[in-house]
Amino acid sequence: MTKILDGKSLSKTLNLELKAEINEWVKKYPKPRLACILVGDDPASVTYVTKKREAAELVGIQCDLIKLNSDVSQSDILQAIHQLNDDVSVDGILVQLPLPESINERMICNAISENKDVDGFSIINVGKFCLDMDALLPCTPYGIMEIIKRNNIETFGRNVVVVGRSKNVAMPIAMLMHTDGKHESQNGMDATVTICHRYTPSDQLANHCRNADIIITATGVPGLIKADMVKPGATIIDVGLTRITCPETGKPKLVGDVDFKEVSKIAGAITPVPGGVGPMTVAMLMRNTFKIARNRSLLSI
Ligand code: GUN
Repeated sequence: MTKILDGKSLSKTLNLELKAEINEWVKKYPKPRLACILVGDDPASVTYVTKKREAAELVGIQCDLIKLNSDVSQSDILQAIHQLNDDVSVDGILVQLPLPESINERMICNAISENKDVDGFSIINVGKFCLDMDALLPCTPYGIMEIIKRNNIETFGRNVVVVGRSKNVAMPIAMLMHTDGKHESQNGMDATVTICHRYTPSDQLANHCRNADIIITATGVPGLIKADMVKPGATIIDVGLTRITCPETGKPKLVGDVDFKEVSKIAGAITPVPGGVGPMTVAMLMRNTFKIARNRSLLSI
């Protein structure tokens, strides 16, 4: 029987756990506070930010929305970030991505104070987790690790293929999967990791995947991972999320990178799309916000 790795249900459990922790916390300390900067009105970004605000409300985090017009200048975004960095009542800061083409995303991510960088996208947090130090982990990779851990999927010495090399998802999950679980951060998962990407020839991609105990795919190419590329019993984590027109119904539909119908007959465990990795990203954002609030209050910064 293939196990469906239900991220929606797991994220609800995590949010309820966090809600209980925050309930206790606010008896002594201020309510955790998250600031979300949303530039423009891209429908997908608006949906993501709405989900983040709803989750914050549920767990007891104050979430402020800072809406900026799509023609805002880079220096105005930087100014908004600097103000939030200096505001001692703000714990976490995030800027919803993608940003308009005229804005340098890397510069924006790096402007967020490393202690408030709830997305873990700043150069300091990326450097820290790459060096096995305690860091604010980027939320999607963090959510994938939580799915793996809470479903007792063995990673020690196992073969993992990561398909994709994006800096916010694929690179960090590849890093976290292969590093040492005994180091300071305890985040490593001790796997043998192969990274495939758009220039990996398709026959090589298939060969690497067939050897994998765990496939993590984050490409946005629907149907890339087919049943004949999967070892029986393997775990499949699908981070892809693409809107297509369903050929059968003619209606819009969200799909991942994996041919779910066929692959789910072979895999040992598989995330659905939607309802797999997506909700976990939001749950881990809430966790990161509380982690910051706790660290800041205990250190009085
Ligand atoms: N856009 C897509 N995913 C994310 C995310 O995890 N954080 C932010 N800030 N923007 C995103």
